[in-house]
Amino acid sequence: MENKKIELIRLLSQTEGKPISGEQIGRKLEISRTMVWKYIQSLQSQGYSIISSPGKGYILNSVPDSLLPELVQAGLTTDILGTDIRHFMELESTNDYAKTIARDAHEGTVVVAEAQKKGRGRKGFDWVSPQGGVWISIILKPSIVPANASRLTLVGGLAVVDSLKSIGLNPSLKWPNDVLVNGKKICGILTEMEAEIDRVEYIVLGLGINLNFNTDTLPEEIRDGSTTISDELGTYVDRLDFVRSLLYNLEQYYIHFKTQPFEELMERWIDSSDTIGRNVRIVTPSKMVDGRAIGITLSGGLLLQKHDGSTEEIMSGRCIY
Ligand code: BTN
Repeated sequence: MENKKIELIRLLSQTEGKPISGEQIGRKLEISRTMVWKYIQSLQSQGYSIISSPGKGYILNSVPDSLLPELVQAGLTTDILGTDIRHFMELESTNDYAKTIARDAHEGTVVVAEAQKKGRGRKGFDWVSPQGGVWISIILKPSIVPANASRLTLVGGLAVVDSLKSIGLNPSLKWPNDVLVNGKKICGILTEMEAEIDRVEYIVLGLGINLNFNTDTLPEEIRDGSTTISDELGTYVDRLDFVRSLLYNLEQYYIHFKTQPFEELMERWIDSSDTIGRNVRIVTPSKMVDGRAIGITLSGGLLLQKHDGSTEEIMSGRCIY
């Protein structure tokens, strides 16, 4: 059922405004005209505007502004990520939901919600997730040791950077998990895992991207340090295109991550970094360290040159500058 629906949407999207008859659709999809009609009705009930012109056929007028699996998949060019997409109008948190299904889910399963009621950020902070954003979690099952799981936060950041560049923005990466545009946070990444001592069972890579909404709608305490894609561009962007681009870029980096030494991705991260070269303060629950950020380590940590000349690898913490 779902595959035929995806094929139907693809077909309707390719007619460039010209009607396509029920008979043609039936032939291409190898289904009866009654089934074609049923699929059309089902799409219409989901918010697709499909004009049916008697004797001529169907024209797809508009699609709903939501990240429905069949819509995302209709133009998706990935092999692993997004072959299974679980879509919700609202969830408490896509990461929390992803963790409930991760064990039995295929690698690359995506959980996406139009809004989150209890979106989570790092260190127990809330993540405000109104409609118009992209709140998405991806289930990954790499054969890695837990110590290297932080690398995936960097991988996620690289993919977001490429997708933002492709729509004309100039993003940079703030260690450990922020993507910035014009010095303001546009995306946060929350990487969580289930693991044994020497083996990761699964990773949930949660990406929160401020897309089509106004920064003014965010709570006052985060407003100044945040931005959204639509505010930066002065226009709304196609969320479906953005999510497809994100999944594609993430898959490319993920394949690289699984098959090549990590150094190359580290270099790429440094090339896009806003943090390296800066004097920073790292705050962890147990200490505060000041120094100059001079690199990224193989475990995804930040290499700090302290003011006494010694170096220290910081694995996690809040980075202030
Ligand atoms: C941060 O910067 O603190 C990380 C924010 C991560 C937010 C995303 S939105 C999708 C996924 N689900 C969550 O509850 N959190 C992550």
